[in-house]
Amino acid sequence: MAKLAPSLLSADFANLKEEIEKIKVGGAEFLHLDVMDGNFVPNISFGIPVIKSLRKVTDLIFDVHLMIEKPERYIKDFVQAGADIITVHQEASLHLHRTIQEIKSHGVKAGVSLNPATPIDVLEYIIKDIDLILIMSVNPGFGGQSFIPAMLDKIRATRDLIDRENPGVILEVDGGIKLSNAKELVEAGADLLVAGSEVFGAEDVVERTREFNKLIV
Ligand code: DX5
Ligand code: ZN
Repeated sequence: MAKLAPSLLSADFANLKEEIEKIKVGGAEFLHLDVMDGNFVPNISFGIPVIKSLRKVTDLIFDVHLMIEKPERYIKDFVQAGADIITVHQEASLHLHRTIQEIKSHGVKAGVSLNPATPIDVLEYIIKDIDLILIMSVNPGFGGQSFIPAMLDKIRATRDLIDRENPGVILEVDGGIKLSNAKELVEAGADLLVAGSEVFGAEDVVERTREFNKLIV
């Protein structure tokens, strides 16, 4: 059984509280929060103060995806802002093992994300220390891009790796996920599906969230 993590990046930023309430009513348990620094990725989104304010209006699980260089500089701030899961990019953190230990020392779940071109071998010596792997199925930075087909095999290979090395690890997939390909991704082994434009771009966000949930259970 898989779960949905709607990405706030495609929500109406002038009405964040209402947008979050809609996915909650639709049955979402997670909220995916994309933090971008204009350096690791060519876009800037939102950061610590926004997450801190949202923490006061919802009990959804905050799944924070840091697309920032040297994320180790800000772990404590994101924990204090209310993150439940913090995922950093392998490509952005030179001393990844230390960064993961820092995240876990604050009592939150630690994830590692890989860009589409990064092989999963880089997880070999860290997989036993982490709670989640986030496979990017688009190049990070923007919502509304198309799923990169080669990522389907990568998801399957990551599922095998998890089953072999640390079965408790959550396999999250992010980018280009629609109602039309969600089922295939779950069959490939995904546990947590991030969807931004397909959820918040819908005419009826509550209904779209329900549709996703029905499809992937
Ligand atoms: C992209 C972000 C995604 C994004 C996904 O860099 O990490 O979480 O919001 O958007 P969609 O679902 O529209 O591809
Ligand atoms: Zn994301």
